[in-house]
Amino acid sequence: MRIAVCPGSFDPITKGHLDIIKRASKLFDNVIVVVLQNTAKKYTFSVEERVHFIEESTADIANVSVDSYDGLLMDFCKMKGAVAVVKGLRAVTDFEYEFQMSLINKQLNPEIETVFINTAQEYMFLSSSVVREVASFGGDVSQFVPEQISTEITERFIKEG
Ligand code: PNS
Repeated sequence: MRIAVCPGSFDPITKGHLDIIKRASKLFDNVIVVVLQNTAKKYTFSVEERVHFIEESTADIANVSVDSYDGLLMDFCKMKGAVAVVKGLRAVTDFEYEFQMSLINKQLNPEIETVFINTAQEYMFLSSSVVREVASFGGDVSQFVPEQISTEITERFIKEG
């Protein structure tokens, strides 16, 4: 059983994330999507909300499960018996950061490989921060986030004011 972990902040999950998760689910027996802490970020959505959005978005993919973890990605991978970490790469701008992270993770646990999947062309521009920006000004985010969560994301911003 080859298990992969798709880690991230997912604040919130976008169609770009979902595309990477779906493609990873075809390469591995099981994929665990995990919401982790990026200490450089302040989050709009709680961990519970982010997990909920991912669960809704991936409910129809049989070999994908969702979790959260307050610790190191490599510790989570070891705990779950994962062989790989899967991350999406959008553009050159992502590369340096992701390359650094993968090298640090390799130092922490040489057994686990980081696998990069190129983002589909239509999602090159897409990020969680773009979704938050559009939603916060009352814009339509349905083309950016999985359809299952589009209304919930919009309503959440209306409620916050
Ligand atoms: O979606 P993001 O914010 O780019 O994801 C980054 C994330 C959350 C995967 C990364 O910050 C992370 O792995 N956090 C957990 C702590 C950790 O293991 N850091 C790597 C070693 S410094």
